[in-house]
Amino acid sequence: MFDPSQEDLFAPFDPIATSKNLEELHSLIRDCTRCPELAGYRTQAVPGVGPVNARVFFIGEAPGRWEDQHGEPFVGAAGVYLTELLAKIGLDRSQVFITNIVKCRPPDNRDLRAAEIKYCAPYLERQLTFVKADLVVLLGRVALERFFPKEKITEVACQPRRKVIGSREITFLPVLHPAFGIRREEIKPEIERQFWTIKEVLDEL
Ligand code: URA
Repeated sequence: MFDPSQEDLFAPFDPIATSKNLEELHSLIRDCTRCPELAGYRTQAVPGVGPVNARVFFIGEAPGRWEDQHGEPFVGAAGVYLTELLAKIGLDRSQVFITNIVKCRPPDNRDLRAAEIKYCAPYLERQLTFVKADLVVLLGRVALERFFPKEKITEVACQPRRKVIGSREITFLPVLHPAFGIRREEIKPEIERQFWTIKEVLDEL
């Protein structure tokens, strides 16, 4: 029964917080214009990919050129390497959820601005409420700093830590970003070693 005295009738409508499933959320992301520069520059937004029941949730930084063209995260060189790393630890790419801190490609892959990370944050948080993964892997510095602003990736890589996001306590595991291994071949053995930690932590959860 309509009751105009109910206070929450006047609460602002928040389509992200009230989105009912990943599909609805991802179509909001595709239509997003919160960051006019990114919205004007992108070919398309890149919400994320993977099953809603994934056990592992990977977070990178932002789409690059290939991701912007294909609408899927991690499909360029770093993505091919990420897929290889997953296979080494017995995970198929189709089993995991993959997304980025920011869903649109920054012009010429420039560093993300604090406001862009902030405006995109509710999308990522809502994704984390739909995909109730056992483990959230933070790929590199930018993903780490979004959740643990005081930490340094070189100091905390491979150390699981817990934090409440929304109403759920989540286990996070920071590791080096695969793109680092593409730029510096000699880092690859260390990245592989760090990826084995993902398997170890998952086996314990
Ligand atoms: N591709 C992505 O989607 N994200 C990154 O962080 C790097 C490459």
